[in-house]
Parts: sequence; structure tokens; C-alpha cells
Amino acid sequence: MGPKSEQVLLAEHQEAKKILAELGALLGIVSSEISEIPKGKTTMPITAGKTVRELAVEVPNATRVFEKFGIDYCCGGHKSLEDACATSNTSLDRVLLALERGFDVTTPTTETDWNTAPLGVLVDHIVEKHHAYVKSELPRLQALIAKVAGVHGKNHPELRQVQSAFTELSNELASHLMKEEQILFPYVKHMASGDKCPSCFGTVRNPIRMMMMEHDNAGVKLREIRQATTDYTLPKDACFSYGTLFSALTEFEADLHQHIHLENNILFPKAIALEQ
Ligand SMILES: [Fe+2]
Ligand SMILES: [Fe+2]
Repeated sequence: MGPKSEQVLLAEHQEAKKILAELGALLGIVSSEISEIPKGKTTMPITAGKTVRELAVEVPNATRVFEKFGIDYCCGGHKSLEDACATSNTSLDRVLLALERGFDVTTPTTETDWNTAPLGVLVDHIVEKHHAYVKSELPRLQALIAKVAGVHGKNHPELRQVQSAFTELSNELASHLMKEEQILFPYVKHMASGDKCPSCFGTVRNPIRMMMMEHDNAGVKLREIRQATTDYTLPKDACFSYGTLFSALTEFEADLHQHIHLENNILFPKAIALEQ
């Protein structure tokens, strides 16, 4: 027998929810207390009331699911899954089902569990993978946007808006990465290794607050670009470079989401906890 289709799984999931609701009614439990979905072989609670951040950190492959459904899991991680789905106009049932499937123990995942990795290793990973990627992509994407806007800007004025938003994002990111690499991250690595080190910023909460504000700004720029391009929909007259640009921007966005998730949801809370 082949794998079940998403429709069949969704129907089964809804049926199971109905049974749970009936069972809850029999036992006198209110529906909000039984929002937990059936989890098959897993024991990880995946509930609509959990925050997006909790799910992103605890559930393997959750960030991929959130990326697929357009749910903000980096800067908007404090929202409950239910609220986040409502904000992004996404079906809560479909997301719960995808999270459940992503968590299935039979699904192999080769990703490192960054929530349990030593803090110094996580910092090195962020710098070597995500910072290096941003540094190499910024000049390439700027050149590509300039080329495509130069050729198609007359018929597609939204490309000028993309160019302007991306230029601002590039400038902000260049200085953001420098602050993390030269000030915050070395300090966090010192703390993680047990060293007592003086800081020029008082508590570590101060630079973290600033970095999180800058992450929010980057999120605003990414959304602006996504809206201007109608979710990266290529027009009929798009050339090869136009297509290359949109797929590169989509990849850049996904990488930045993952990058900010690792900092906002794992690194920063752990650094604050370490200081206490
Ligand atoms: Fe970073
Ligand atoms: Fe950052």
C-alpha cells in the first residue's frame, strides 16, 4: 500500500479531532484543553496553543513547515500557532498535520539539534553558514537586481521598489553582522566557556535587544519585497535573469528566516539565561 495522500491524512486528522472533542465533552473537558492533536508514534505535544517559537525549537522540521506555509517563526515566534495561522491566513489544521508528519519518527532528519548544541558551536555555525552566505549573496543579488530592474523596470516599476528595499536591507545587514561578530558573539562565547569578561554594554540583554530590533527591521524589508513581487510571481515577459533573481531572493529569505530563528529563539534566550 502506497503512502496516504495529504487529503486522506487531513480527513483522518479531522475525524480524530472530532472524536477527541466528543471524548472531551463526555469527560467534561473544555475544547481549548483538548486542542492537542493525535500524534501517532510521537510523544511531543504539538498543540495550537503553543508558541511558534516553542514548536520551532522543539519539533524537528518545524521551521521547514513554517517556511512552506509562510508562518513567521523568527521575529513573530512569540505568537501562538493558532494566532500565527490566523495572521498569515493559513489553515491551522493543515499546519498541525504537516508538523505531525514532519515529526514522524520514521522521517529521517540529518539536521543538528541546535537547541542542545553547545553555545560556542552554535555561534560558529551561525557565522560560518549564515553570515558567510549573506556576505556572498548581498553583492551578487544587488548586481542581479540592478540588471533586471535596468531591463524590465519600465514595464515593472515594482522592481525599483525591490531594489530600494534590498539596498536598505543590505546596508543594515552588513553593519548588523559586524556588530554580532565583533561584539556580541565573542562575549557570548566567553560566557559559554565560563570566563568572566568585562563588557562595554552592561548586561548582555542590551545588545540582544538591539539585534532583535534589527531583525524586526530586516523582516519588514523582506515582507516589503515579497509583497512588491506578489510572492515572487514571475510576469509573463520574465527573462531567465528575472527567474534567477526571484529564486535567489526566495532562497535568501528562507536562509535569513532560519538564521534569525537560531539567534532569536535559541542563542539569545540561552545567552540571557547564562548571564543570570
Ligand atoms: Fe547573525
Ligand atoms: Fe542577527
